[in-house]
Amino acid sequence: MKFNTPATTNPIDRLRHVGRPYDRVDGPLKCTGRATYAYEHHREVPGAAHGIVVGSAIAKGTVAAIDVEAAQRAPGVLAVVTAASAGKLGKGEKNTARLLGGPKIEHYHQALALVVAETFEQARAAASLVRVRYREEKGSFDLAKVKDSGIAPKPERDYPPDTRAGDFERHFELAPVKLDAVYTTPDQSHAMMEPHATTARWDGGKLTIWTSSQMIDWWRSDLAKTLHMRKQDVRVVSPYIGGGFGGKLFLRADALLAALGARAAGRPVKVALQRHLVYNNTTHRPKTIQRLRIGAGRDGRIAAIGHETWNGNLPGGRPEVATQQTRLLYAGQHRMTTTRVAVLDLPESNSMRAPGEAPGLMALEIAMDELAEKLGMDPVQFRILNDTRVDPEKPIRPFSERRFIECLRTGAERHGWSKRNPKPAQVREGRWLIGHGVAAAFRNSPVITSAARVRLRADGTVVVETDMTDIGTGSYTIIAQTAAEMLGVPLTQVEVKLGDSDFPVSAGSGGQFGANSATAGVYAACVKLREQVAGKLGLDGETEFVDGAVRAAGRSLPLAQAARDGELVAEDVIEFGDLAKKNQLSTFGAHFVEVAVDAVTGETRVRRMLAVCAAGRILNPKAARSQVIGSMTMGVGGALMEHLVVDQRLGFFANHDMATYEVPVHADIPHQEVIFLDEEDEYSSPMKAKGVGELGLCGVAAAVANAIYNATGVRVREYPVTLDKLL
Ligand code: MOS
Repeated sequence: MKFNTPATTNPIDRLRHVGRPYDRVDGPLKCTGRATYAYEHHREVPGAAHGIVVGSAIAKGTVAAIDVEAAQRAPGVLAVVTAASAGKLGKGEKNTARLLGGPKIEHYHQALALVVAETFEQARAAASLVRVRYREEKGSFDLAKVKDSGIAPKPERDYPPDTRAGDFERHFELAPVKLDAVYTTPDQSHAMMEPHATTARWDGGKLTIWTSSQMIDWWRSDLAKTLHMRKQDVRVVSPYIGGGFGGKLFLRADALLAALGARAAGRPVKVALQRHLVYNNTTHRPKTIQRLRIGAGRDGRIAAIGHETWNGNLPGGRPEVATQQTRLLYAGQHRMTTTRVAVLDLPESNSMRAPGEAPGLMALEIAMDELAEKLGMDPVQFRILNDTRVDPEKPIRPFSERRFIECLRTGAERHGWSKRNPKPAQVREGRWLIGHGVAAAFRNSPVITSAARVRLRADGTVVVETDMTDIGTGSYTIIAQTAAEMLGVPLTQVEVKLGDSDFPVSAGSGGQFGANSATAGVYAACVKLREQVAGKLGLDGETEFVDGAVRAAGRSLPLAQAARDGELVAEDVIEFGDLAKKNQLSTFGAHFVEVAVDAVTGETRVRRMLAVCAAGRILNPKAARSQVIGSMTMGVGGALMEHLVVDQRLGFFANHDMATYEVPVHADIPHQEVIFLDEEDEYSSPMKAKGVGELGLCGVAAAVANAIYNATGVRVREYPVTLDKLL
């Protein structure tokens, strides 16, 4: 099905299932331990051996010699894989560094060997016997030092490295009120609960991996490329995922090494990256340095806005496009952005939840707070005044929906913003200084081709199959809701099967495109199945599928009757035309935060948080709320805690475990509220939905930082806002 004209009324609009706050259909499986994660497929793969990864102990250089003899002779050892023994490997399109290093070493903890043994303990003990002699080269690990050598990255999708409209320099110079400030955001880690893990099995020349992947088809392609195999000989299975945040978008070392280990050992092998490897072997969100210049008239209207950002990555690595939001969020005739990437020899940086947008708004939304103060304006009013109805770079291009002002007004009302004292450091309760902060949430909502297959069984039950993944987001549930709505059956009669490359290729989970795109693919397959059902039942004209029956022209027949002679199967794909290019598809929100800062110790406590979101039709308010409160929690981490500390001598992240890479716990987050504004976006898909998973994170950290400023009068431009920076 092609989606290239705005959606009209369709069966989803009945909202008997879609739009309801159903519990997760996979919830009971997860809560009772019956959902099998990558390391737990004992039933499908009995007797898998265990693999332990040996990572490089230097960041840059070569392996002079690698001695695996002692490891090979150790008890229980079945195989040792190194680059030398693995044969010539290809490289996946989505990987910057090779997943199995040697002799060249590209980053610290790049995998150099896999030791496979009967038991986990034997593999771990033998891995400690692998001896590597290194020829070390001097690496570069400090973004501040190398940023000026940064180059413009290859233009990617909609992200040109340089953008311009009008004459920024002149109008910034002329502006009577202006801000010129530099902000930094640190390296951050996905720190998901389930580490990257894979169980691999060979059946002759065919390979199956049970893994933890957000994007089944990307993994399948890249694993086939790396192993010089035909794609159809590789199967990727990932039904349940214990968190991803972007860290599982791309094929990683656990999957490649499990496959190589299983081949070498002649039996199935499972590999879970040890926790420290999750931080230094995989990808992370890179540190950014961002300069913002905003010039406004005395009336508060922005005349000129400029945003420059720098990050580091391995040679050929991608940029962190922190300038994206600045291009579209506020009006202003004279604009510029630049994005530069310098070479660093740290582990590869790549997408982490709201890649680019999250760090970009961490900076932009403090800058807006600072400029509002210079103007003597309320920061909510300042944002409202600078709203735009069109793409400010191309003023003929409208937003499909944009309820930013409504988000701000609703949030201000609900939070009690009018009671905030605009003068910082005025409100005290005992030893606590109290402050309030606001920030915009804004993230685009891309649409991605997505396919699904739907079966109607003789008993009237429905099965949906698609390689879409559920990374804890609720995909199973919203897909079941979509099929139930389209085919007029109760939710309990729909079985959803996900995360298997045997199923049609979906959008996958990333970029907050999954919910809308994947359900739209299921919608398309259901439209096809409805046609088949009507044909089988001999019903003409307009049909209605409701309460297990199909109605047309005054007749009503049981749905199951259509599958009496055998299961009906329909498959289709939703393909998006250029609606999303002609109309900017975006999601908006506003975050309001109250903090208390200890006047003596500088400790910050978040007291309450509110997010108001406008993000198209909300397919399941309960699942969507969970997405947003998860994001808000992550945003508090970004504001106050998250920070990978770079060891500048050796070039690795020193805090590489969950004890030292701090993220918020429940006790840090006392009260969260989420409001969704009513919105149906006819330009987004037949579902009229968008995404919220990344929107919820965008802006949170700035709202916290702005609240801290309001509480204390101390402006911190370097995240995280830890207590040492407040004293
Ligand atoms: Mo998201 S960073 O696209 O998983």
